[in-house]
Amino acid sequence: MPEDHIIDTLKHAEGLDRADPLAKYREQFHIPKVNGNDSIYLTGNSLGLQPKKAREYVLQELDDWAKYGVEGHIHARHPWLPYHEFLTENMAAVVGANPGEVVVMNSLTVNIHLLLVSFYRPTGKKRKIIVESDLFPSDLYALSSQIEFHGGNADEDLILWKPREGEYAVRYEDLEKIVTDQSDEIALIFIGGVNYYTGQLFDLKRITSLGHDNNIPVGFDLAHGAGNIDFALHDSGADFAAWCSYKYLNSGPGSLAAIFVHDRHRTAFNLPRFAGWWGHNKETRFGMRDPFDPLPGAEGWLLSNPPILPMAVMRASLELFQDAGMTALRRKSEALTGLMLELIQSRNISGLSVITPEHPDQRGCQLSLYLQNNGKRVFDFLTDNGVIADWREPGVIRVAPVPLYNTYCDVWNFINLLDRGINKIAAA
Ligand SMILES: Cc1ncc(COP(=O)(O)O)c(C=O)c1O
Repeated sequence: MPEDHIIDTLKHAEGLDRADPLAKYREQFHIPKVNGNDSIYLTGNSLGLQPKKAREYVLQELDDWAKYGVEGHIHARHPWLPYHEFLTENMAAVVGANPGEVVVMNSLTVNIHLLLVSFYRPTGKKRKIIVESDLFPSDLYALSSQIEFHGGNADEDLILWKPREGEYAVRYEDLEKIVTDQSDEIALIFIGGVNYYTGQLFDLKRITSLGHDNNIPVGFDLAHGAGNIDFALHDSGADFAAWCSYKYLNSGPGSLAAIFVHDRHRTAFNLPRFAGWWGHNKETRFGMRDPFDPLPGAEGWLLSNPPILPMAVMRASLELFQDAGMTALRRKSEALTGLMLELIQSRNISGLSVITPEHPDQRGCQLSLYLQNNGKRVFDFLTDNGVIADWREPGVIRVAPVPLYNTYCDVWNFINLLDRGINKIAAA
């Protein structure tokens, strides 16, 4: 038997689960049930699952609030005054950054705006922003409104890095051409680290070097990569990044986001920024009289005293990442998506194509599956049979086997149901 022969049986998938060193983390999560059984939950790219420890961590804060009132800022078991600092180290490790480069705050779109205030500085004819096409709508709205805020015209100043005719993934050589042809007109490159629709993973370092070689700042939205890709964000040299925590970082619906500002800007206090008291010097913050004295590093972008309850959930979740480690998680993620791809290819399912790049270096945790016919009916069949996945018009099912809590059996069972559903609906 050739070494790369695909063994397409549930028994084989069960064996992979038994041998999986990360399998133990599944029991740390609440897995939603469908008809009394564990669902095949493949939507960690939208909302990650609840860590069981989250409840205990939130209850601790509620108890301390009941017990101490305002004094909890000092006397709570985890004092609220510096609470965001309890998250920084683990969050920085998730994206491969130094702790001083990362802070948890606000929501993702808010943070993108705040970072654009500092890093999108159009002057003269240098005012364009390059983005990948099919970027998440909120990013598009944020970028367009920033262009308009600076008196520009988004129709002219937003340049889309598009895939070629008949392709889904964008190509670096096309980005290189746009940048070198128009470098004196481009003020910013802003790319999703993993595209939310196609699942294409980008090379942060390559894009950053291209930008910097042409005197253009570079930022990333890492919403679809943080918690599943072992990014080396500091080493990429990127100027800034932002990401949410409710997807792969399992911190609860609408929970807080995080930012990264590269160490080279650590004391760049001349960068324009919107300020608030939580970004002010901690020694004099409660003097209440001093002019704004920004903290060095990412903390200098903080505005408000942050909400403790969602941060308690995040603390519980990040401990699991700290324990499992991003290298091991990424390894398993590649194996899960790899198995899914192999099963799809070996079964040669009619009318199904994968629009996510196949090479592991170019895909994240999510595969986007395009169904030529009856896509929505197939999706409904999957839902009726216990799969929780995500539907995007015109015919894409996005599935994300998450290395912290999904299993190889989830992958096999999903492909088996998908195959059955497609054939059943085609025959009806
Ligand atoms: C890539 C990307 N950017 C931005 C957002 C918007 O995030 P928020 O609602 O937290 O601002 C999302 C939400 O899913 C997203 O996936």
